[in-house]
Amino acid sequence: MCGIIGILGKDNVTNRLVEGLKRLEYRGYDSAGVATLSEGRIERRRAEGKLDNLVRVLADDPVDGVTGIAHTRWATHGAPTTDNAHPHATEEVALVHNGIIENFKELRDELLARGRAFESETDTEVVAHLISEQIETGVAPRDAVRKTLDRLHGAFALAIMFKSDPDMLIGARLGSPLVVGHGDGESFFGSDALALAPFTQKISYLEEGDMVVITRNATMIYDENDELIARPVALSGASAAANEKGNHAHFMQKEIFEQPIVVAQTLQSYLRPLEEQVALPDMAFDLAGFDRISIVACGTSSYVAMIGKYWIEQFARVPVEVDVASEFRYRDPVLTENQLALFISQSGETADTLAALKHCKRAGVKTAGIINVPTSSMAREVDLLLSTHAGPEIGVASTKAFTCQLAVMAAFATNLARAKGKLSPEEEREIVRHLSEAPEAMNAALGHDEDIAGMAGTIAEARDVLYLGRGIDYPMALEGALKLKEISYIHAEGYASGEMKHGPIALIDDAVPLIVIAPSGPLFEKTVSNMQEAQARGAKVVLISDAEGIGRAGQGTIATIEMPKVHPLIAPLVYAIPVQLLAYHVAVAKGTDVDQPRNLAKSVTVE
Ligand code: AGP
Repeated sequence: MCGIIGILGKDNVTNRLVEGLKRLEYRGYDSAGVATLSEGRIERRRAEGKLDNLVRVLADDPVDGVTGIAHTRWATHGAPTTDNAHPHATEEVALVHNGIIENFKELRDELLARGRAFESETDTEVVAHLISEQIETGVAPRDAVRKTLDRLHGAFALAIMFKSDPDMLIGARLGSPLVVGHGDGESFFGSDALALAPFTQKISYLEEGDMVVITRNATMIYDENDELIARPVALSGASAAANEKGNHAHFMQKEIFEQPIVVAQTLQSYLRPLEEQVALPDMAFDLAGFDRISIVACGTSSYVAMIGKYWIEQFARVPVEVDVASEFRYRDPVLTENQLALFISQSGETADTLAALKHCKRAGVKTAGIINVPTSSMAREVDLLLSTHAGPEIGVASTKAFTCQLAVMAAFATNLARAKGKLSPEEEREIVRHLSEAPEAMNAALGHDEDIAGMAGTIAEARDVLYLGRGIDYPMALEGALKLKEISYIHAEGYASGEMKHGPIALIDDAVPLIVIAPSGPLFEKTVSNMQEAQARGAKVVLISDAEGIGRAGQGTIATIEMPKVHPLIAPLVYAIPVQLLAYHVAVAKGTDVDQPRNLAKSVTVE
């Protein structure tokens, strides 16, 4: 995940820019850069790879200036090259960006048509040109930024520096965090308070849609309606600790809300927006050669495996077996030459999954891994590493890693389908389009946080809770039940909704809430029938659906959670949000240790 620093200082800022970047290294990056205003000119120094490379560039060719911005980039649009490294600049402005500009292609084409020349493949450079165009026609920087922000779709944090105004930086936040630091005659921007801890503890956390103009002695924050508003100045208390919760009560809450941006950044690692294609990293084998896939994982990761089975068999028509890792090798599985074994793990250290991986490698089976920690044991073992880019997931209950795993699984299934000749270019373009829409839809789902908090008290009193889903929503029912049980300690089970009448319905009475996950679509009516069978026996139903589904079946429920209408492909990423939020708020209502639930470890490194 990218990192941002901005400093309006009293003396040369270069060293402090680099120091701030060093405190953001934990987020993961593959290039870095700084820009300062020096003698009325924008000076940039950038380098691929680790910060040491940038430090060497600066030692060989120093820059100075009391105004500057800096960035650690984790490549999304375009390879991790120096040309693609931030800051991006024109004659008039330099800026750094964390996030995804989803409509960058049309904006880029528009700018190219107006004769603007680009030096990079990035979406970020488009923003620099849009602002610059305005300034070049005499528009004031603040208004130029506001006009530009109104044209951007996606998630972003921006820090912008202007050749004409050495005593000003402008920042903006939509879907990606940005904080303002208040010093003594100095002001700062940072991706988080941790980055600014050496400079100041006085921090204002920007809210969604905020734009902010800072000078050395003043901060003007404008909300999404461009109204001047005050955001509180808090003492961050941020220390050397690599991770902090910002303005969230728990890491789990922070990580739930990070999902749109980290899913967007993960997707951009696998989407080629200009070519409208999905692409995997280079691999030493041809996916077309596989005629069966085994997917092996534990816990939440195993539900990604189950969802992956639907996608792979639907798109690629390749048979898939799913196993929980702790069972896999003990059933003495039949392993064949043309099989691929795919392992899914957030930590990359889960003993059961690692053991299954080694079992397959010993048998000569080709292996791949969807893994969030690139330095983990599994990441080093697999033949093909498909990284997720959720960033460090501190909460024991997996949330952002789960949705990032789903994003990578969708990319894998698409690539396999193309390799097997089962996907036309138009079908692939449609998949790219739907996947690109996921972050914004997830953002919309997060908008129900308060509604869900309001219903948590009812669920918190329950002895048992059942989750129902059909088709690809069945694994989501399992995930919702796991989330609830592991952090609130309430007994919860997930069932295929058609299974209710084969036993579980005996559990139903008015003390057993039923959470029904049912986007409108081909399976909706059947799920609603199962739901109504339970309602007839007194079940308290919470229906999670879209407006159409709620309109058709919301009557008689104790609550509904309305999701945006989304394509079935991205429904799992979007419907993960309400089940996570429900579990979170129930656990908070019960007062359990949300981030470190009893008996659980973040990485289960024992069998
Ligand atoms: C998820 O919320 C749980 N903490 C747990 O089921 C977890 O998914 C499981 O232990 C697998 O972990 P991994 O993804 O790191 O392999």
